[in-house]
Amino acid sequence: MSASRTLLLTIPHRVGALQKALDVLGRNNINIERIESRPSKLDKRIYDFVVDVKDVPEHTLNKCIDVLKETKAAESITFLGVKDEIPWFPGKISDLDKLKQEILEAGADLSSDHPGFNDQEYRNRRKQIAQIGLNYKHGDKIERVKYTKEETMAWGVIFNKLTSMYSKHACKEVNYVMPMLKNNCGYSENHIPQLQDIHEFLQDTTGFRIRPAAGLLTSRDFLNGLAFRVFHSTQYIRHHSQPLYTPEPDVVHELMGHVPLFADPDFAEFSQEIGLASLGASDRDISRLATLYWFTVEFGVCRQDGVRKAYGAGLLSSFGELEHSMSDVPDIKPFEPDKVCEQTYPITSFQPLYFEAESFERAKEQVKNWAAHMDRPFAVRYNPYTNSVEVLNHSYRLIPVARDLCSKMEQLKNSMEKIIKLQESS
Ligand SMILES: [Fe+2]
Repeated sequence: MSASRTLLLTIPHRVGALQKALDVLGRNNINIERIESRPSKLDKRIYDFVVDVKDVPEHTLNKCIDVLKETKAAESITFLGVKDEIPWFPGKISDLDKLKQEILEAGADLSSDHPGFNDQEYRNRRKQIAQIGLNYKHGDKIERVKYTKEETMAWGVIFNKLTSMYSKHACKEVNYVMPMLKNNCGYSENHIPQLQDIHEFLQDTTGFRIRPAAGLLTSRDFLNGLAFRVFHSTQYIRHHSQPLYTPEPDVVHELMGHVPLFADPDFAEFSQEIGLASLGASDRDISRLATLYWFTVEFGVCRQDGVRKAYGAGLLSSFGELEHSMSDVPDIKPFEPDKVCEQTYPITSFQPLYFEAESFERAKEQVKNWAAHMDRPFAVRYNPYTNSVEVLNHSYRLIPVARDLCSKMEQLKNSMEKIIKLQESS
């Protein structure tokens, strides 16, 4: 984030007065970004000018302020504070339509080691399905995909394999929700569930929404969606030649790995908390949040009744890594956001390290506390009635103004008291 600094210059209302002040700024190489004028509420004979200056070193600005004072180019100069340039973020749920869907991978562009790289029919199919995500607008019904026999068979193989392992290795919340997904969303070995049905089910349970995505989004866009309880989900499926392997998220990963826990109230809140922390965050904080997300929502483990269980989608959608994570091979550390967010990790092999959460509720509080110390000059609060974000603590510019006004009001009050006393004595 680059910063601009804001000054309040009080200048007499007479010809050439503003020019005199601006000349001082110009001679000191001050780059003015914005200037606004308004008559002073305290004295009609003077004007207040709010001036934003950009990329000016503090010592240069202080020197300029000294000159303004010495030359009486301004009657008073008040430093209002530093204003950070905050990356754009969606303020209401329909703003998610503005995300550019900068697809990092997948979509129709496959890397040469993808199992479907040489299968033109598969590539065309993905392109066709990805288009649904590109066309989607908030409030639309998600277009249903008519999955082919081959695609459904690939789903069936991995569905059976994974569900046979869930009772032993998945956390209790996943095992609680799975029967509901079978009953309400058509989860079965013979049927790939449709995003619209899952969307409606999640709306009734935790208010989470599904939004079709054309591929892997940037971390910022994806995390921003979570702030609104929106999960961007791919719809295409892995190549049928290797049903137990995918180098990227596909509909199996999303529906088996992610969806069950979005129906759990504590996990839904935990996910939204990470999303809210991402709004307007610096690139560095987005990277740290993406790492937190990686070690929780993707590869998190927890302890339930003294036994390690999986809740991360990367584990719940990969029978190989699910077994690995429950073995004695990987390192297991307690979930501490400060440490987790700095941890490096491999993306093409099983994780050598997992972080174990005490509970989703506890993890949510930990992330909330961690986010409160992020390098962000404001906080946000979600308004579930309007599905919009309220920006809080944005008073870093306003507080100094208020203080300045208070001192002026104090002076005015003293003057009035003196006048009243004089009138009384005369
Ligand atoms: Fe994922």
